Amino acid sequence: MIDQDFILKSYNSKVERGSVKWSSPSNIALVKYWGKRKNQIPENPSISFTLSNCKTITEVTYTKKKSTEFSFEVFFEGEKNEAFKPKIQTFFERIESYVPFLRDYHFNIETSNTFPHSSGIASSASGMSALALCLMSIEEDLGVDYADDYFNRKASFLARLGSGSACRSIEGELVVWGKNKSTESSDLFGVRFDGDIHSNFKDYQDAILLVDKGEKQVSSTLGHKLMYGHPFAKERFLQAHDNLDKLKDILSSGDLKEFIKIVESEALTLHAMMMTSMPYFILMKPNTLEIINRIWKFREENNSNICFTLDAGANVHVLFPKAEESKVYDFIKSELVAYCQNGHYICDSVGNGAKRL
Ligand code: PMV
Repeated sequence: MIDQDFILKSYNSKVERGSVKWSSPSNIALVKYWGKRKNQIPENPSISFTLSNCKTITEVTYTKKKSTEFSFEVFFEGEKNEAFKPKIQTFFERIESYVPFLRDYHFNIETSNTFPHSSGIASSASGMSALALCLMSIEEDLGVDYADDYFNRKASFLARLGSGSACRSIEGELVVWGKNKSTESSDLFGVRFDGDIHSNFKDYQDAILLVDKGEKQVSSTLGHKLMYGHPFAKERFLQAHDNLDKLKDILSSGDLKEFIKIVESEALTLHAMMMTSMPYFILMKPNTLEIINRIWKFREENNSNICFTLDAGANVHVLFPKAEESKVYDFIKSELVAYCQNGHYICDSVGNGAKRL
């Protein structure tokens, strides 16, 4: 499919008002997306687990209007929010040619997250995907009839233009984004991983340890830019292809030890890229390292399959098979909670994607 396939060509412009509501989850990348080209095209393929509990719930009410300006208000957790508006304005500008009714309506966007606002958890993936899905449902209200596949693809396509990783939040349980030779995929939208998934990876658990709940030290926008002219970028992009290749086989064979190697190496590589860019950043905190070392020790001593991954920040995602749930949570409570800000962590697991409410 190409960009033009996502342009809405005709719709019923007589519809006066309506309301749509979606819940959309966050996702956690196993092979990381870091580096993009124009129009949010990724430099390398990525794959993520869709999460289940960390979600954004967004309701959009639309009312026909006369003026030709974009018009919208955003309410976050019940309160008018000006801070989100520039991001949504940019999003509308980027997607306008695919969603031509954006100037015909005033949009009231009411949104909330199931996870605490200042948790350092990126809400852009769940937030942008929820908004993209609402716009798709409005297209349907305007008389367009979509097959599920196309609906999801266009929702993912639009979400990508809001925030790259958001395109991996529409479906579950594993989603691939970015052309590669080993899976069916596209640079334009995320698709459900089409390979076999061994039972070891069903219902995988993700405990998100909140080490630093503050604002991100490096925005994704800046982070992606740092990959331009980065001395190791070319190798890194090739490595991501290679890791996705390997992960495909691992997901089918159920080899947890090999899974751990890829996932942890990807997390550390993401951080290594930021430590070696110009300007350079260290996004881990001392407690991030404490947690990583304790995870390694626990794994060794208990023959466990616990591992970690990181986003572009200090929080740690602790990944483990469902079968180890109780012993890992005992470990988290007895040892790792001490390194979390105010002892906070979030229990999550792999989920099935967004839902219309
Ligand atoms: O979607 P963005 O532009 O915020 O990029 C996020 C990138 C990482 O979360 C660091 C990795 C990933 O693939 O999700």
